[in-house]
Amino acid sequence: MTLDAAVNNETFAQFRMRLVQRTESVLGTLLPAAHVLPARLHDAMRYSTLGGGKRIRPLLVYATGACLGVPLEHLDRPAAALEMIHAYSLVHDDLPAMDNDDLRRGQPTCHRAYDEATAILVGDALQAQAFQVLAEPGWGVTAEWQVQMLVTLAQASGSRGMVGGQAIDLAAVGHELALPALEQMHLHKTGMLIRCAVQLALCAAGIGEKESKGAALLRYADRVGLAFQVQDDILDEIGDLQQTGKAQQGADRNRNKPSFVTLLGLVEAQSYARRLLDGALEALQSWQTEADYLRALACLIVERNK
Ligand code: IPE
Ligand code: IPE
Ligand code: MG
Ligand code: MG
Ligand code: MG
Repeated sequence: MTLDAAVNNETFAQFRMRLVQRTESVLGTLLPAAHVLPARLHDAMRYSTLGGGKRIRPLLVYATGACLGVPLEHLDRPAAALEMIHAYSLVHDDLPAMDNDDLRRGQPTCHRAYDEATAILVGDALQAQAFQVLAEPGWGVTAEWQVQMLVTLAQASGSRGMVGGQAIDLAAVGHELALPALEQMHLHKTGMLIRCAVQLALCAAGIGEKESKGAALLRYADRVGLAFQVQDDILDEIGDLQQTGKAQQGADRNRNKPSFVTLLGLVEAQSYARRLLDGALEALQSWQTEADYLRALACLIVERNK
């Protein structure tokens, strides 16, 4: 499997470009306009959400939807809501009280471009906006599945999901973690939102998580989610700053943050990412070409340089 995978004559590269553009246009429409009061807050929300980013989570929503034959209109709001939660998580992650980062995607972080209080409010407002986007009626998914999406996104975002993972991350600074504890931390802070992308697409398709199709796709998602953070840790150590858009290499190491690289070393972390990729592809074994975008996305996540 390579990044050249094609479904219905559209290569993954074409699919990716089309759906990234679609994500950005949907986000642009669903976010309050920059001139609406309070204009500075809305401007900062748009700055933090629309200013670049790989859009991996929306792509995962759309690629899972493509695998299950879901119409795009039923995936737009789930994809955008999830990306809003992700953008909020990054704005708060960069705050001085957390990672204290000045650059994100090659641009000043939200609290540097605006101010700290605004960055806190941007996160709060993006989170509320995400749930509003999912809860509003009339975009094609039944009310029952809509409620399931809301519960799923809340679980993935909250103290037993991403926020919980961030709490473990902060508590772990300066401590040596064993591999299972590190995996738990990463499965929460990063893995839960990646898993959520697949869960939301399953809801849009009306497929339960215990059905064999659903369970297999979630096995794929969990492996990809972990692989995503292993690669993030690798790029933190050796990524080209022009590509990663970060201010320094080795930030995790300098801050005494446990990471796959600090725990396993670079070479072992790289081979762990490959094993997770193999595991993700294996979970898709019973699918034919309709899962090729999912396969290509898993490869991209492990092979990316930003
Ligand atoms: C970075 O996420 C933070 C993690 C969860 C590891 P991404 O690498 O998806 O960030 P963008 O949105 O593409 O900038
Ligand atoms: C961030 O992890 C995870 C979340 C925002 C939930 P990192 O702190 O490793 O992400 P980067 O490296 O700053 O993008
Ligand atoms: Mg962090
Ligand atoms: Mg960070
Ligand atoms: Mg990182």
